[in-house]
Amino acid sequence: MTQDELFKVLVAHCKEYGFIFPSSEIYDGLAAVYDYGQMGVELKNNIKQYWWNAMTRLNENIVGIDSCIFMHPRIWEASGHVGAFNDPLIDNKDSKKRYRADVLIEDFLGKIEEKINKEVEKGRKRFGEAFDEAQFRATNPNVLREQAKYDEVHGRYKKAEDANDLAEYRQIIIDNNIVCPISGTCNWTDVRQFNLMFQTSMGSTAEGASTIYLRPETAQGIFVNYLNVQKTGRMKIPFGIAQIGKAFRNEIVARQFIFRMREFEQMEMQFFIKPGTELEWFKKWKEQRMKWHVNIGMGAENYRFHDHEKLAHYANAATDIEFQFPFGFKELEGIHSRTNWDLGRHQQYSGRKIEYFDPEEGAAYTPYVVETSIGVDRMVLAVLSHSYKEEKLDNGETRVVLSIPAPLAPVKAAVLPLVKKDGLPELAQKVMDQLKFDFNCQYEEKDSIGKRYRRQDAIGTPYCITVDHQSLEDGCVTVRERDTMSQERVPITELRALIDKRVNLNNLLRNL
Ligand code: GAP
Repeated sequence: MTQDELFKVLVAHCKEYGFIFPSSEIYDGLAAVYDYGQMGVELKNNIKQYWWNAMTRLNENIVGIDSCIFMHPRIWEASGHVGAFNDPLIDNKDSKKRYRADVLIEDFLGKIEEKINKEVEKGRKRFGEAFDEAQFRATNPNVLREQAKYDEVHGRYKKAEDANDLAEYRQIIIDNNIVCPISGTCNWTDVRQFNLMFQTSMGSTAEGASTIYLRPETAQGIFVNYLNVQKTGRMKIPFGIAQIGKAFRNEIVARQFIFRMREFEQMEMQFFIKPGTELEWFKKWKEQRMKWHVNIGMGAENYRFHDHEKLAHYANAATDIEFQFPFGFKELEGIHSRTNWDLGRHQQYSGRKIEYFDPEEGAAYTPYVVETSIGVDRMVLAVLSHSYKEEKLDNGETRVVLSIPAPLAPVKAAVLPLVKKDGLPELAQKVMDQLKFDFNCQYEEKDSIGKRYRRQDAIGTPYCITVDHQSLEDGCVTVRERDTMSQERVPITELRALIDKRVNLNNLLRNL
């Protein structure tokens, strides 16, 4: 199965097993908006809890808040979002379809890269063990031709990006005959800037209403509460404020399932520090955040840093943690050293002094900030895409299993009476009643035991507990483990401890 096919299968699986549904589906859906079903919400909550506890419990100097989605519109002027939170858009006059000009160019560059890689793979097959990739890339005429084309377009694109030259974006598209995938034509409009913020109005009368925005990031809710938290919490620098919440962006090109949505959720932490210490803290948070990811157990090789060459005007260091999604390495989290830009701007726009009196320095200053910002939905996608497996079994059958890291799994244990009679359902219910206070469990008595195992594999349940006739006599049950499918007899009284050992989120946290 290609990665493309795998991704399609995963999207269908998410719907079939109650993880993620297209929003408003009975009305034919709403583009780039998705709802979480009964399994998805459990997975999402576990991810959020892992992040929240890692931030606010493991760090005595980090506290949480929950600020509103609606905020004073001046906040978005101060933050620069009204003026500059834009994407360059372009329309195809024939298909009337809208695209991001930068994405069209990047996709074009991606295709050239793909061609080069294919050529290299052909060479590798042809020359076998004697293949020297560096030499091949430096001498093969097809590779050299494509590489020259890549360098030329890439060079122009980077220049245009730096200069914010929208006309040049269009020219690159025209010169390279980049066509609309729908109409197949190169009949493009000019490139225009498109602000990504959603607007609505607040107020009871049309005349008195004012335009407000749905927040495009949760971070500003933290900045504008800096003084409140610092004073009421008697926080001493360095300290952090964490928040989990919804954010909204009117993405022009919303693709790849829950990777880029118009309504999504962020987990952000702003760490307030003394000016001059920001690069040291930036390095620490880079390490900490990578550790948090790798600790989940999805393979260190699937993560990498991508340091930004081009920095936003307010940042003096920035990196992305990228994850290997089915469509390649893509941004999962951003870590930014934002200087005192945000607090400084809110000071200027609100007229309120936003400073910290540092008793050690005997002086007041506007704190610098290192931010960590991760999309909950991208984490969900990372976990699901990494966990989805189709396995061939010894008996020739295939099973679909989600090998979700156990502490994040939506259901931790399924309790299954072997048959629906002879007192087995009653005993199984007793087992449920024992376990349900500690774990999210499912009780299932319909269908053969084999079918029930398959259903639990497909939602990633780490343990299936089967109650059989023997259980009535010896008080033991069969515990089947999801990944190895191994089975063991366990006394009912020991179930809680056995499950807890593997699924308790605190075990993950202890390794951080
Ligand atoms: N406060 C900084 C900030 O918002 P960002 O890089 O724009 O930075 C941070 O967003 C994270 O939010 C991203 O790394 C990504 O995980 C997530 N994210 C951003 N836009 C998203 C979208 N349209 N859909 C889903 N997740 C998104």
